[in-house]
Amino acid sequence: MRTQVGIVGAGPAGLMLSHLLHQRGVDSVVVDLRGRQEIEETIKAGILEQGTVDLLRQTGLGDRMNRDGFVHHGINLAFSGGIHRINLYELTGGRSVMVYAQHEVLIDLIAKRLADGGDLRFGVSDTQVEGLETEQSTIRFTHEGEQQTLECDFVIGADGSRTYSRFLIPEGTIRKDFFRQYPFAWFGILAEAPPSSDELIYAHSERGFVLISTRSPSVQRMYFQCDPATNIDDWPDDRIWEEFDARLSPSGTGVTPGPIFRKDVLQFRSFVCEPMQYGRLFLAGDAAHTVPPTGAKGMNLAIADVHVLDRALGAYYSSKDTGLLDAYTQTALRRIWRGQWFSFWMTSMLHRFSDATDFDLRRQLAELELVTSSPTAAKNLAENYVGLPLT
Ligand code: PHB
Repeated sequence: MRTQVGIVGAGPAGLMLSHLLHQRGVDSVVVDLRGRQEIEETIKAGILEQGTVDLLRQTGLGDRMNRDGFVHHGINLAFSGGIHRINLYELTGGRSVMVYAQHEVLIDLIAKRLADGGDLRFGVSDTQVEGLETEQSTIRFTHEGEQQTLECDFVIGADGSRTYSRFLIPEGTIRKDFFRQYPFAWFGILAEAPPSSDELIYAHSERGFVLISTRSPSVQRMYFQCDPATNIDDWPDDRIWEEFDARLSPSGTGVTPGPIFRKDVLQFRSFVCEPMQYGRLFLAGDAAHTVPPTGAKGMNLAIADVHVLDRALGAYYSSKDTGLLDAYTQTALRRIWRGQWFSFWMTSMLHRFSDATDFDLRRQLAELELVTSSPTAAKNLAENYVGLPLT
């Protein structure tokens, strides 16, 4: 088999790149270890930046999102006995975010790629990439019991945080990894209940952070900060609702309980690998960088990477100009490190650190008071929350 761009990974980065390339007439094949159903059912975050929303709409992926997603013009910060709204819309000159779950975006992307005749190979095994230093790279894999060899001009490593492709960049001599672990995690639930709030609530409390998010009028997504070693079996529904209540009631707010049909513990990590290119290999999305979920930047950064890659590959195929491809790492990293800073900042401002002193607690509250009372500080949060424009 032969294609122009071989893509390892059918997540947001890989599928969106394949979609964008198709629109400019560049061929690609996408392979993934996972089955289609697993990809379409994996629960991740649910906030799309304005730039992501615009790009999905402009490229024919807006129908279901416009119908089922929710545009939010603000978020709330709860702390010190009160709740304060950040008006994203006004502070950013009319930008907002969309609440629409990542797996819904993936369902839309897969349907669109297949309708457009795209070549997606789910459930492959033994993926092996070769020839990255040559003009002719190959991806070998087994699909439906048959060994396949895919020849391509470029290989895109979009295989998520459990990546194989990142390790094709020699560590030490070329690749450097930047890493930060956090001493806590999030306990996440999906519950059948009406929304507890019109807009998201990020809550600081002495018992730790809480996030009230939503999925639909009848399904709510909520999280509370927990120990990374937390066992979900120790948390029956009643205990979970009591914990939310204990953390939220000091701010005069609370949650509407309902049957919980999913519980998970999300680990917290910040990670960046540099460079994001080696020979004919280009990394995109979680394969190259991960953020903690505070701020919901993960999928948005993946979409931004492939927005850059699409234009760079487009320039290459239309005029053999490699300038944008050569600049890929540098171009993408600017936004990625901004996203790292923002996710880290939101995380540090809102979470309880086990070694925190009373001084640290007062300092956090001073910062929250600043971002909710100073228009300049609020604008900084709002602009980064809705995201930099895709340029
Ligand atoms: C979510 O709805 O899953 C979500 C929303 C906002 C975040 C993180 C996760 O910052």
